[in-house]
Amino acid sequence: MGDIFQQKVRMGMIGGGEGAFIGNVHRMAAALDGRIELVCGAFGQSMDNTLRTGAALGIPKQRLYASYSDLIRDEARRDPADRMEFLAIVTPNHLHIPIAEMAIVHGFHVMSDKPAGISLAEVTAFADRLAGTDCLYGLTHTYLGYPMVWQARAIIGEGRLGRLRKIYVEYPQGWLAENLEAGGAKQATWRTDPARAGLSGCMGDIGSHAHSLVEFMTGDRMSQIAAFLNAHIDGRRLDDDGAVQFRMEKGATGTLIASQVCAGEENALKIRIYGEEGGLEWHQMEPNTLIERPASGPALIHRAGTDKALDAEALARCRLPSGHPEGYLEAFANLYRDFAAAIRAGQSGAAKGVPGIKEAVAGMAFLEALVQSNRNDNCWTEVPVRSVDEAKKEKI
Ligand SMILES: NC(=O)c1ccc[n+]([C@@H]2O[C@H](COP(=O)([O-])OP(=O)(O)OC[C@H]3O[C@@H](n4cnc5c(N)ncnc54)[C@H](O)[C@@H]3O)[C@@H](O)[C@H]2O)c1
Repeated sequence: MGDIFQQKVRMGMIGGGEGAFIGNVHRMAAALDGRIELVCGAFGQSMDNTLRTGAALGIPKQRLYASYSDLIRDEARRDPADRMEFLAIVTPNHLHIPIAEMAIVHGFHVMSDKPAGISLAEVTAFADRLAGTDCLYGLTHTYLGYPMVWQARAIIGEGRLGRLRKIYVEYPQGWLAENLEAGGAKQATWRTDPARAGLSGCMGDIGSHAHSLVEFMTGDRMSQIAAFLNAHIDGRRLDDDGAVQFRMEKGATGTLIASQVCAGEENALKIRIYGEEGGLEWHQMEPNTLIERPASGPALIHRAGTDKALDAEALARCRLPSGHPEGYLEAFANLYRDFAAAIRAGQSGAAKGVPGIKEAVAGMAFLEALVQSNRNDNCWTEVPVRSVDEAKKEKI
């Protein structure tokens, strides 16, 4: 990447304190290419936690803040050569948009975890405000950083499967098969609380990943859905399981299943897509393999690595020679690497290669439509389209 990374890109972080899950994954991913430096944070709800987390990370005390608003205000007052350049948001969902809004108002780029927020209205209003700034917004749909996901997108984009007909995507997990929230488990309590998780539980948490994977691989959008949501644990206030029948805009139909009560299951995200001339299959837990099944001949196995047959975008996301497994952290790091490059290149809006505000709005529209469908006896429901462009037109 040459000269543009002579100066590392300076990152701040909200959330990800001692005891948290994904913040540490973000830090490892951001650090992997040596182009990003964590310079400040408000890592937890208590200053004690932030101080302990910051000390363990070697961040000077004066860059550790009691709240996200203190951090954003104080960092904005610092010398531009030294202040953070972008803010990673790894808190529970209800804080994503309030933090992102304040960040862009003060001129900071934002890398937010998913889902983008807790309602479609909140996220579309944010999209409007973002459009009036020079800030970048990235959404860490981690799976869109995998090389073989890009390979699948390229195969479909080239038309090798023909017109698409059928899509099956499933994301079963087992970690909420018990009532963990009753025991106060940190990750479970906010995920089952509508005020902090948003309008959906399991679908917001992992169904949103499955939705983004379908739209990314196919280059098409889910336009109509019929949803069935369940809560299997007594007293649980949000869905912990569900199934969605869907129709894509260009005519394919499919099924999306997401569940967090499949006892014993890990992170078994899997997708199969079939067209008139063949299909393909990808499993997150075996991410370096993509199976293509042409109707006219034997199956092809695409492997991550130095395979010359890989699409250029897929190859650009492989870091090691073939046969050396790479996975989740590297996929996450690919998003951070592209985001850092976009900052140094002076881009605004969406960073090339990173899910952005368009995907944020689409993800919330999907969640809103599925909750509505479930409430209305699972009837077919339009997924509202309100792209950033349309939002702009409405203002004219
Ligand atoms: N991209 C992925 O694959 C992926 C995976 C897991 C989680 N996530 C998302 O990441 C986010 C965090 O999930 P998690 O599992 O790490 O949750 P968590 O409960 O483990 O961590 C949340 C952190 O936010 C902190 N926090 C809460 N309020 C705060 C405030 N006002 N100021 C500063 N810090 C505050 C908590 O103290 C904690 O450190 C969620 O939005 C979740 O959906 C994404």
